[in-house]
Amino acid sequence: MSDHKALILDEVRKYHLEREDGRGFVPGVTEIWPSGAVLDEADRVALVEAALDMRIAAGSSSRRFESRFARRMGRRKAHLTNSGSSANLLAMTALTSPQLEDRRLRPGDEVITVAAGFPTTVNPILQNGLVPVFVDVDLGTYNATADRVAAAIGPRTRAIMIAHALGNPFEVAEIAQLAEDHDLFLIEDNCDAVGSTYDGQLTGTFGDLTTVSFYPAHHLTMGEGGCVLTANLALARIVESLRDWGRDCWCEPGESNKCLKRFDYQMGTLPAGYDHKYIFSHVGYNLKTTDLQAALGLTQLEKLDEFVEARRRNWRRLSEGLADVPWLLLPRATPRSDPSWFGFVLTVDPEAPFTRAELVAFLEDRRIGTRRLFAGNLTRHPAYIDQPHRVVGSLANSDIVTEQTFWVGVYPGLTDEMLDYMIASVREFVEARG
Ligand SMILES: Cc1ncc(COP(=O)(O)O)c(C=O)c1O
Repeated sequence: MSDHKALILDEVRKYHLEREDGRGFVPGVTEIWPSGAVLDEADRVALVEAALDMRIAAGSSSRRFESRFARRMGRRKAHLTNSGSSANLLAMTALTSPQLEDRRLRPGDEVITVAAGFPTTVNPILQNGLVPVFVDVDLGTYNATADRVAAAIGPRTRAIMIAHALGNPFEVAEIAQLAEDHDLFLIEDNCDAVGSTYDGQLTGTFGDLTTVSFYPAHHLTMGEGGCVLTANLALARIVESLRDWGRDCWCEPGESNKCLKRFDYQMGTLPAGYDHKYIFSHVGYNLKTTDLQAALGLTQLEKLDEFVEARRRNWRRLSEGLADVPWLLLPRATPRSDPSWFGFVLTVDPEAPFTRAELVAFLEDRRIGTRRLFAGNLTRHPAYIDQPHRVVGSLANSDIVTEQTFWVGVYPGLTDEMLDYMIASVREFVEARG
């Protein structure tokens, strides 16, 4: 490393110390965010170093991150994207690839999903001309069950795409088995659940494809970013092609002729020898990330285990502190799972002597941040009312989620003091009303 660079990075470390917020927690004044990035000195240095080296487009850090993250998540391949939503779009679109021949999904085919969740778990189904089939969730786990998914399988069903709700795994082993029995693809939206396990196995390793988000609210951050992972090398090639403009060539940026046949292909009706770098086998996108993002991802990844542990510890503290509070349904882990929690979900009993709006207003007034379980029942939103879809069974619980549910934070940036203040505030509100 050059002397100048070493000096600059040393100054960055000093600057980081200077920026450390030494003011401590002041109840009712300090903002308690429901989620957020936890960034340390190593993260700051990594970002500045990447900028100093002007590693801007995806390059060495991206490749290193993809390979380390794939290994950490137990998959053969990881492809970075510019968001978790893009990762979902790529995963779903990959299943429509002509390269899958008879197994490819075609317009009008059905994909089973969950009514209450984040919109971009569902949007790629519609964006590909496919039909979402909505099932309800259970209250407490906020996940669909294998029984509900089984009941939704019809003659045109070709895939299942479900998120592990706020870090809590769905019955993924059973649902993967259903997928196998009925020759369906399974996409696990693991955006909120990195590090969660089911039967001791990481979520994201049961399905054909899985997705992750690196937005600051998530377990690891790159500012913006996402990832598609798979153990299936054919699917990985399709994902990469769709991410990178739809091209057939798999050379990394800056590389040429890795296959040693760059000018030897004949595809479509192109002239023989047309440059493989510019042969397109998919109607693709450009959903790549930058190397600055990946540089941050690498230092974040080193902290994954401690982040997951902190999320679990924070969730347990809230769970124990609120265990005997009436009128609130506390979250519960899906049996046989060990969630890497995204948030702590509460549902206000419809018979409670207070409303969700009153409790949320009380907490927000104390600077305790709250969030909804994303969209709640998606079928009630203007965007989806006129979209083709099928609903199987009642969506009564999704409606309860829409009307009575919210969540508070468990992210690693929260301290015990903050968590205890959250617990005390909920208790004080409910005792005064109950
Ligand atoms: C379950 C789920 N899937 C997908 C996404 C989208 O991720 P991104 O914000 O990176 O696009 C989110 C975002 O919070 C999410 O919660």
